[in-house]
Amino acid sequence: MKQVEKTPTCRLFFALWPSAAECAALSAWHPALQKQCGGRVMRTDTLHSTLVFLGDVEQGRLDVLRLVAQGLNCRGFVLELTTAHYWGHNHIVYAAPDMIPPQLVELVRELESRLRKHHFHIEDRPYKPHVTLLRNAQWSDAPLSPMPTVTWKFNDFVLVQSRRDEEGAAYYEVLARFPMLPADA
Ligand code: 2AM
Repeated sequence: MKQVEKTPTCRLFFALWPSAAECAALSAWHPALQKQCGGRVMRTDTLHSTLVFLGDVEQGRLDVLRLVAQGLNCRGFVLELTTAHYWGHNHIVYAAPDMIPPQLVELVRELESRLRKHHFHIEDRPYKPHVTLLRNAQWSDAPLSPMPTVTWKFNDFVLVQSRRDEEGAAYYEVLARFPMLPADA
């Protein structure tokens, strides 16, 4: 019987990818939160905020994806990460803004709309901006300790591939950067 060849795929997502200094500033939240909730700390150089998660995409569609993300009519913005929260359903501790910039809402809306037009599969669940800080954490509904606000500035967003090394450990590779229009003064 003839074997059906599997089309090669890659696991992809669009994200906000901060600078090393911005990552380090947020990573300063790690020790206090880990002391409170236990769990595994996310590596400082991989801190990011997912915009749209695509999952497994055929490698042959990468060029389409790049075209979809180019030339979005969206402006850069500042994201103020103000508060640490816990999600019981997936045992994640994350940083989130108290105020979501309208430019960020518009960016996600525009990206999702273009992706759907090009028949990429994306989930229907509402977008919740967050940066995962700890996995396998344990906490209650009680508020977590207050943290100093961390400011991230974005003039672009990125397409990222989630890969595995020879030992099976996950790591991220930024495949492309997409500039946004200059932020409002
Ligand atoms: P998380 O940090 O909340 O786990 C790479 O895995 C990135 O994609 C992470 O930021 C992760 O979010 C996000 N991600 C993974 N699976 C996802 C899914 N099914 N829907 C939305 N985002 C997902």
